[in-house]
Amino acid sequence: MVNINSNNQRLFHPNDEVKQRSDIKDWDLEIEKGKDIEKYWAQEAEQFDWFKKWDSILDESNKPYYKWFDGGQINLAYNAVDRWIETGKRNKIAILYINERGKEVKLTYYELYREVNKVANALLNLGIKKGDSVSMYLPMCPELIISMIACTKIGAVHSTIFSGLSSVAVVERVNDIKSKIIITADGTYRRGKIINLKSVIDEAMLQCPTVQTVVLVNHTGRYNDVADLRGNEIFYDRLIEGETDSCDCEVMESEDPLFILYTSGSTGKPKGVIHTTAGYMVGIATTFKNVFDIHDDDLWWSTGDAGWITGHSYTVYAPLLLGTTTLIYEGAPDFPDPGIWWKIIEKYGVTKFYTAPTAIRHLMRFGKKYSKLYNLDSLKILGSVGEAINFEAWKWMYEEIGKGKTPIMDTWWQTETGMHMISPIPIADLKPGSATKPLPGVQIAIVDEEGKELPPNKKGYLAITKPWPAMFRGLHNDDERFINVYWEEFPGGIYRAGDMAEIDEDGYIWIQGRSDDVLKIAGHRIGATEVESAFNSHPAVNETAVIGKEDPVKGQLIKAFLILNEGYNLDMPFKEGNRFLLREELKRHVRHALGPVAVLGEMVQVDKLPKTKSGKIMRRVLKAQEEGEDLGDISTLESD
Ligand code: WT7
Repeated sequence: MVNINSNNQRLFHPNDEVKQRSDIKDWDLEIEKGKDIEKYWAQEAEQFDWFKKWDSILDESNKPYYKWFDGGQINLAYNAVDRWIETGKRNKIAILYINERGKEVKLTYYELYREVNKVANALLNLGIKKGDSVSMYLPMCPELIISMIACTKIGAVHSTIFSGLSSVAVVERVNDIKSKIIITADGTYRRGKIINLKSVIDEAMLQCPTVQTVVLVNHTGRYNDVADLRGNEIFYDRLIEGETDSCDCEVMESEDPLFILYTSGSTGKPKGVIHTTAGYMVGIATTFKNVFDIHDDDLWWSTGDAGWITGHSYTVYAPLLLGTTTLIYEGAPDFPDPGIWWKIIEKYGVTKFYTAPTAIRHLMRFGKKYSKLYNLDSLKILGSVGEAINFEAWKWMYEEIGKGKTPIMDTWWQTETGMHMISPIPIADLKPGSATKPLPGVQIAIVDEEGKELPPNKKGYLAITKPWPAMFRGLHNDDERFINVYWEEFPGGIYRAGDMAEIDEDGYIWIQGRSDDVLKIAGHRIGATEVESAFNSHPAVNETAVIGKEDPVKGQLIKAFLILNEGYNLDMPFKEGNRFLLREELKRHVRHALGPVAVLGEMVQVDKLPKTKSGKIMRRVLKAQEEGEDLGDISTLESD
């Protein structure tokens, strides 16, 4: 039921069934318990199997280089897979893979265990040791998950690259961590077509000198013969053929790196976000259990691809750490028709479903017809991630998908936080559009420019005031940026999230978008500078400024203001006699550089861009103009 309170906010109260089922009975009490952060997280850490318990829970002696569970020894793959083999979950399905062609692969915990071991042994045979990095450029298929866990088992650091990114992105990411191996596939299924991934890798590998071996999953069956491969390429199936299906787990220190995942910041270079072992494991498993009230009979489906953090934390690792079945789907939400997701939910009886507002808004456009075709009664809890969920999308999700009985968990978090930070739990009273309160064990404040806490109803910067276990531990090869971007702005080891937010009188947090030059397109993060350099690398372009422009489906689209070189205009054919206009050519060029995630909205040609006296582009001014707002402080604006 949604009603309105005296502040004109909509309120949602969960029904009795949700409350009865919930393991947590009192939200406030749980938050209260979480205030003693060390005690809270140490208690949660007890659920895992450790080779050796920790000496200290949280070490704050060298801020912001916090350490969690220091002195402890553990292996995450052991806790996610191996330990279930000895229990009643041995033959439970761990991974349920489905693709748009109707193919289905079910891997029980025991089968997953054996597959992981084979790949782990194969990687060891290829010379991969603890601490080495392995890149992956794969669609959402079982081999991706198996490979990630295999790395974790032997202590190799995995780094996945979303399969929608370009060869330029692959080169940048592989070279930054000097991977010796990349695991990839021939292609991926998308809307009835096969997208060629191998050609992206072929192009990238021309510029990746550290890669000794390319492991190829023959996923769509394009390659039939070893003769099709180059000298340093090997089929995945061939690689693991004959490998034994048992493999010891590497003993990992709590703070040993687990994976590196790249994300966009406000400068051109992507940031290699480093996550480590024990704290990450404890953080994601606990939040997963709290936010989605996970039970043994759940069938979990997160649409997050393992090329991003949602996929790492909540599609792959947290579900397996709790012994849950995780469904992965390779395909688009609207193919063969916009009912496919609901069809899958009905067919398999999905109980908890986690997706992004942009997908919901996309599906809303096709009306209510499709969701009505299927019985979605199995659903108990829904989740949202990636950006704030607007009320229309919330309502549609609640009424059409949840049939008016499933609460929606709006989870705020980041690649850097590794785990959910601000989110309700199922028994919470919700205010649609607000991610509600910090989770138990998490401390948040809204602060001013100096880092001083602001009173309710004042817009400010979102800050995390106490360390949390799944926090990232650094940026690969970029310590300076780690400090500058996140820790320097506010004193005392307080983390600057990069979002603006407001807290209301009931302690509910309302996220209000980024405070830096990062755009959010369909929930994906992309740096304004990255897009600008892609434009600037085209011979027709002199200089570019981009901003995010509101879009009803994608949240934001790129709007580019371009100064073109002498003699060019956007509506001329790009080359003499060419039927492509420069406008289209630029679109293609940017897409090639950044991949399909960079969705271009508008391009306009300008003579001049607003700049500070020191020559920095003031995107804020362009954005304000665009939105017809007051220009704010433009005293540093360059004078004519
Ligand atoms: C940024 C982090 C965390 C996994 C997916 C995105 C925005 C994320 C929400 C939410 C409002 C949200 C923020 C944040 N964001 N979730 N529930 N409400 N904004 O991870 O790519 O690292 O992006 O996404 O701006 O800083 P990411």
